[in-house]
Amino acid sequence: MTGLLSDKTVAIIGAGTMGAGIAQVAAGFGHQVMLFDQIEGAAQKGIDNISHGLNKLVERGKITDDKKNLLINQIKVVSSIEELTFASLVIEAIVENLEVKQKLFQQLEKFCSTETIFATNTSSLSITAIASALKHSERVVGMHFFNPAPIMKLVEVISGLQTNPKIAQIVFETATNWGKHPVYVRSTPGFIVNRVARPFYAEALRIYQEGAANISTIDAVMRESGGFRMGPFELMDLIGNDVNYSVTASVHNSYYGDQRFTPSIIQQEYNNAGYFGRKAGRGFYNYTDETKNIFPETAADVSTPDTATISGKSQFFNGLLKLLSQTKYIIEDKSETSSPVIFTIKTELATIKLTDGRTATQRAFDEQIDDLILFDLALDYEKATRIAIAKADQATELAIQNAIGFFQRLGKKVSVLDDVAGMCVMRIVCMLINEGADTVNQGVCEMSAIDIAMKNGVNYPEGPIAWGDRIGLELVIKTLKNLQKLYGEDRYRISPLLTRKFIAKKSLL
Ligand code: NAI
Repeated sequence: MTGLLSDKTVAIIGAGTMGAGIAQVAAGFGHQVMLFDQIEGAAQKGIDNISHGLNKLVERGKITDDKKNLLINQIKVVSSIEELTFASLVIEAIVENLEVKQKLFQQLEKFCSTETIFATNTSSLSITAIASALKHSERVVGMHFFNPAPIMKLVEVISGLQTNPKIAQIVFETATNWGKHPVYVRSTPGFIVNRVARPFYAEALRIYQEGAANISTIDAVMRESGGFRMGPFELMDLIGNDVNYSVTASVHNSYYGDQRFTPSIIQQEYNNAGYFGRKAGRGFYNYTDETKNIFPETAADVSTPDTATISGKSQFFNGLLKLLSQTKYIIEDKSETSSPVIFTIKTELATIKLTDGRTATQRAFDEQIDDLILFDLALDYEKATRIAIAKADQATELAIQNAIGFFQRLGKKVSVLDDVAGMCVMRIVCMLINEGADTVNQGVCEMSAIDIAMKNGVNYPEGPIAWGDRIGLELVIKTLKNLQKLYGEDRYRISPLLTRKFIAKKSLL
């Protein structure tokens, strides 16, 4: 079976941000597109917006003027839904309201043939609930695009309880034809992306709430060490704090108050103040007065330690070892091991280890290492330009200075975090891995869909599942267990699938 052929007509209802973008994508494949909006002139405005965007591409030499005109001519404004009789696929991108969406499809059911596929671009409503209002509920499917639709590659193809799998397959293949990377999803709150991404924001907010560092430092660590394109606070400001908060609240509500999704009081306060983000000129950052802004805290240059001995060599640190091989520091081969937690850097005044979810203070106590400094996870230790470290309360100021000097010698900027459990990148990434695995465990999608979704829907530098395999489930589970032990919260409970794979010595993918 293939997707819809290009000679089929596609109807888009709602010509706002998403509808116009989706119309552009469908027309780009050669479909005749009919665009309808309940507000007079809105559909034409949608086409003008597409035209404006395409003009920029013409100016940059990305497409020809002819191609642009061809695409625009494929889109026709229609003034009533009765005109959509011949559409093979209708995609609605109207207001996010269950009753309004149901009513629209009920009306369409009167005019369209029973063969017409009804797709909804809803980002939070149940496909099952939308479909339940229709006589032919089996033809309703979610086709969740990401903003901006012409650029973002992900499409979540969501089946409700009634959806005919063949319909989902046609939509999946149609999205593929349109140059997208679709994934199959079972209708559950947040689908994949809006669920799995929650810890990216929520853990960052918690780390901030606990005073680990200022927002800008957390963002810088997530970008420069974690490899994310944007830090959590920058991204919340871009999405809109109000929108981001209400997605979290809706997912939390939908899962009957599961602590994994508890919204942040801090974010609520920002909303109470009207600090909605970029669009309001003020969010976590100040967009109107640069002088009032917050910047990353970076340790000043200090002298490098004279000696350092590295033991517990692990593949995981190949990037770091490569940098170390260009220094005078000694790498001991004898204790080669696969566990990154054993890896130890011993300078004159500090013992430096990778975080395992305990605070440095707790671990210094447990392992009887008074001069303990922990460092954070990095996506790629060779390429990372910044590294976060944290000091045990028992350790001296000289120990932290020694650790700063050590990482500076490897060419890194160093951010010193206050001693929070799991630090920044490790804590957030382990929670993303856990949520990804749990989403699969609950039968929402295939394992491979998680990474496709997170890389193409929110530009993650690596899919959480592949990342989990690379870090190793032992460390992921250890980190989560330690977080759960410290906080005593169900929020950090480990997905049964992670435990199962770990016990069976299997990788996730
Ligand atoms: P928008 O507000 O930019 O556009 C909605 C358009 O639908 C407006 O032009 C409005 O006049 C029209 N409309 C409303 N009710 C209608 C009706 N009954 N019949 C015909 N037209 C109607 O909204 P946006 O952002 O494009 O969102 C649309 C849908 O897409 C929502 O369900 C939203 O949850 C979903 N979505 C939004 C994303 C985003 O980033 N904005 C991302 C993915 C999904």
